[in-house]
Amino acid sequence: MSKIKIILDTDPGNDDLLAIIMALKSELIDIRGMTIVGGNASLENTTNNALSLLTYMNRVEVPVYIGDPSALNESSTSPEEFDEFKSHRIEIHGETGLHVSLPSPSIEPRKIHAVDFIISEAEANKGELILVPIGPLTNIAMAIKKEPNIKDWVKRIHLMGGAVNVPGNVTEHAEFNIYCDPVAANEVMSSGIGIKLCGLDITRNTSVKREETDWLHGNSPGEKVIRQLLDTVFKKIPDRNYFSLHDPITVLSVLHPELIEWELFDVSVICNGPESGKTLGTVNAGGSVAVGVNIDQDLAKIKIAEILSN
Ligand code: RIB
Ligand code: CA
Repeated sequence: MSKIKIILDTDPGNDDLLAIIMALKSELIDIRGMTIVGGNASLENTTNNALSLLTYMNRVEVPVYIGDPSALNESSTSPEEFDEFKSHRIEIHGETGLHVSLPSPSIEPRKIHAVDFIISEAEANKGELILVPIGPLTNIAMAIKKEPNIKDWVKRIHLMGGAVNVPGNVTEHAEFNIYCDPVAANEVMSSGIGIKLCGLDITRNTSVKREETDWLHGNSPGEKVIRQLLDTVFKKIPDRNYFSLHDPITVLSVLHPELIEWELFDVSVICNGPESGKTLGTVNAGGSVAVGVNIDQDLAKIKIAEILSN
């Protein structure tokens, strides 16, 4: 059986780290490349984190392409809003975007821009390529805008983002990835490309609990660095008793969509005002966005651990 071809668009990011290791370890996935976006940390830090993780995992053959800083950067927001946003993301992901130290990268990012890589890879693999954005959707929206044909070339998008029937996690309305670039999110949701949306509806409560120290018990490099990361997260945030598996569930949705109950919606995104970043879903059997509305949490955690222990 041929492997599933994906591009992982990511802002590593603690939970991104687990998702990237899953994709690296799955024998069913062919990572055509990783495209980087700002979000959990600056674009410089998220790029360095991706390169460092590939170095640590001894997977330096996976190409990395630098994308966009994502819309929510200093130039596009008020000083107060940006400071609040920065302190939120530093609390969750630390100053550099990761609560674990990795070796300095032994590889450089490729020269072409992430958006151009997405377009060229989609054209070279028409009908086969799955985009897996697990950060703000800036790169994906830019690719669709630059080359509208990718709407026909891309097989599907599995994205982490949104909160359709539950509150957000940055404001009561908005989930982080959508909050960072609501305009890009709205363009992706309305693109007509088939989307599997893994939002907070299924990701917030599918989590590793503070006391579940035996969730991963192997001694592979991937399992060791994840245990270190979880240990640090729970030490640094004493009142946080769970680590939500937002991005890992999105990679899991590529491999085991049967663990998630999907419902077809039309989805749009509010792009300004106090509800900016809110994902509005209307049930529509002809809609292009399959929203994950329920998940077998226990089985999902078991499957994610299995993949990480490969
Ligand atoms: O809201 C969760 C999402 O925001 C995850 O992708 C996490 O990595 C952050 O980017
Ligand atoms: Ca992420």
